[in-house]
Amino acid sequence: MKTHIEIENLNVYYGEEQVLNNISIDIPDKKITAIIGPSGCGKTTLLKSINRLIDEVDGVKVSGKVLVDGEDIYDPKAEVTQIRKKMGLLSQKPYPLPMSIYDNVAYGPRIHGQKDKKKLDALVEHYLRESSLWDEVKDKLHSSAARLSVGQQQRLCLARGLAVEPEAILGDEPTSSLDPVSAERIERKLLELKGKYTIIIVTHSLRQAKRLADYVLFLYLGNLIEHGPAEEFFKNPKHVKTHAYINGRFIDEHKIDKELNLKGTECPANFVKTKIALEGMEIGQVLKVIVDDKTAVSEVPKAVEYDGHKVLSVNPLNNTDWEIICQKEL
Ligand SMILES: Nc1ncnc2c1ncn2[C@@H]1O[C@H](COP(=O)(O)OP(=O)(O)O)[C@@H](O)[C@H]1O
Ligand SMILES: [Mg+2]
Repeated sequence: MKTHIEIENLNVYYGEEQVLNNISIDIPDKKITAIIGPSGCGKTTLLKSINRLIDEVDGVKVSGKVLVDGEDIYDPKAEVTQIRKKMGLLSQKPYPLPMSIYDNVAYGPRIHGQKDKKKLDALVEHYLRESSLWDEVKDKLHSSAARLSVGQQQRLCLARGLAVEPEAILGDEPTSSLDPVSAERIERKLLELKGKYTIIIVTHSLRQAKRLADYVLFLYLGNLIEHGPAEEFFKNPKHVKTHAYINGRFIDEHKIDKELNLKGTECPANFVKTKIALEGMEIGQVLKVIVDDKTAVSEVPKAVEYDGHKVLSVNPLNNTDWEIICQKEL
């Protein structure tokens, strides 16, 4: 297995709080690596450390090395723009640029000096095909990207990312805001693209990790608990925490103080009810919320975090229900 990205003794602090503890790991070339673990364990932080998007966070401190093709991206001489060009990012929600579909895809190549109209046309078509969007948009390339559905926007963001010819694609829960059909298209696309790019995705869905990953990293509280080839990882987890996590029993570690069953409730009532439940609790207490609505799985944790409470984990219980464990602000 060829290594593409080597992480050596990586520590990340937000102010005084250390959120990644001495992470060392080799990320394989042209495979899909999934970063899994409960909410708040440092998955996004790790991903952002790989393209230095972490630099944008106020008060952040990073130590250790991240070697991409053998070069340390934290070397004072490293060029951040070049690093980001190599590492395309797909975020949780698609953020197309406020311009046309065409201009979104042409944006990167234009910045990198491509002015030839014919060549740009060809690039735009190529990358829209590459992200399986071409057939849906070929007749309205000059209409606003904002008018596309969320699923189409995420594929557009993929096309925009690919158009700068990255070496790696980093996805932070790239399907979590999508409907199941759009999510499946993105998943299929990632599987097709892995022969050409190193792909790293953060996911809180174990099933998604099983479907996509060749290699898995399991983080918990900023520590890399276990990593390995996906099959081995899921079949024979070595660490007791991994075992509990992949069997959906991780939550046993928390003492649940209150439960809220929101099955059958629709957003936004979901998070209103969750907030009300948290209001009646004492600081540090743990609330378990059961939901059965896809939207609620992303919206409830967001609303909880927005209010300063902590989301400890989000886990699927079965085909329809999810469990969200949150803690009244500390
Ligand atoms: N900008 C920030 N400033 C301070 N703390 C942060 C910031 N972003 C994340 N954190 C904290 O760092 C920890 C790891 O966060 P994150 O990497 O987002 O985890 P995950 O993606 O696994 O949910 C959490 O405790 C979170 O509250
Ligand atoms: Mg995250």
